[in-house]
Amino acid sequence: TELDFTLEKIEKGGFEHFMLKEIFEQPEVVHDVMRGRVRLDEGWLRLGGIADYLDRLKQAKRIVICACGTSWHAALLGEYLIEEFARIPVEVDYASEFRYRNPLVGVEDVVIVISQSGETADTLAALRTAKEKGAMVMGICNVVGSTIARETVCGMYTHAGPEIGVASTKAFTAQVAMLYMLALSLSKGRTMSDSEITLHLRELSEIPEKVARILELDSQIKLIAERFKDAKNFLYLGRGFNFPVALEGALKLKEISYIHAEGYPAAEMKHGPIALIDEDMPVIILATRDNTYAKILSNIEEVRSRKGRVIAIASEGDTEVSRLTEEVIYIPQASGPITPLLTVVPLQLLAYHIATLRGCNVDRPRNLAKSVTVE
Ligand code: G6P
Repeated sequence: TELDFTLEKIEKGGFEHFMLKEIFEQPEVVHDVMRGRVRLDEGWLRLGGIADYLDRLKQAKRIVICACGTSWHAALLGEYLIEEFARIPVEVDYASEFRYRNPLVGVEDVVIVISQSGETADTLAALRTAKEKGAMVMGICNVVGSTIARETVCGMYTHAGPEIGVASTKAFTAQVAMLYMLALSLSKGRTMSDSEITLHLRELSEIPEKVARILELDSQIKLIAERFKDAKNFLYLGRGFNFPVALEGALKLKEISYIHAEGYPAAEMKHGPIALIDEDMPVIILATRDNTYAKILSNIEEVRSRKGRVIAIASEGDTEVSRLTEEVIYIPQASGPITPLLTVVPLQLLAYHIATLRGCNVDRPRNLAKSVTVE
């Protein structure tokens, strides 16, 4: 009805689609996820929902993280972050695999489940399996009071607000920011000094402003989308902390534009995808400055020498990348572990613009559901 239509317009707050509104909410979302949990002046970090279990978490022999879809990509970043900062072994599993493969998990393990909705059937089943086997179960959910949130022993809410667009954007950012704080709090008194932790928290606190600056590139990204919107395949490459982002960027494009896209660890390109590269194959390469930078530059050269069209995401001030490729999106500098919170944003916008230019319904893509509550 007309009334529903007007309501929806108000809910979109002046944006064309919920997805775009949610992408633009991300500076606020990162700010909100830190609210009440971080006080910078004293380097104070307190995750209320797990405070009583923190010692148990720090003593875990191993942490297993289970999730589906975009939340699984956050889980993979969780592995990289927790192993980097807290030096606790982490394993990541698709919830659907974990639940059916008689997993080796027991009382010494902690199982973390990540779910925006808190209702995903496979994730819920993984949680119940872990519980039966005696593991301590912890949740990271967005929807307050959801089934997964209720069935976990402890956990944290991402407080990203309702996410309406089927393709997850702001919920992912909030999950990653949450995992970043979790990794730091697991490091405290063990693998990192308080001053190191404060430095990392300071970097996190600078993210909202940096994301806001990336959002200002929206019209540049739309121009790139216009040039590439008719491609039939896309390849996304990243290394280290940018590898899970490559997976997430490819998933975003697939979900809403129906273009086939694959994410790969850049070095694995040689073991397959390189065979696909020609002038019709756009390759998105995450080339921000970190310890894998030099390697990524040679990956760009490998693509270029096969006539692949490269769209690079690089750090502001970089001069090398633009010598190798004409399409570069510059984003603010940040250190490796926090970079995903920045690099994912241009990929969300690129997917959004390609999909809308192709006339796709980005908020309700065909065949997909916001929350998969059946197997
Ligand atoms: C569906 C949604 C995805 C989401 C996944 C996991 O596939 O379309 O956006 O990432 O489920 O959902 P969850 O609510 O468990 O994070």
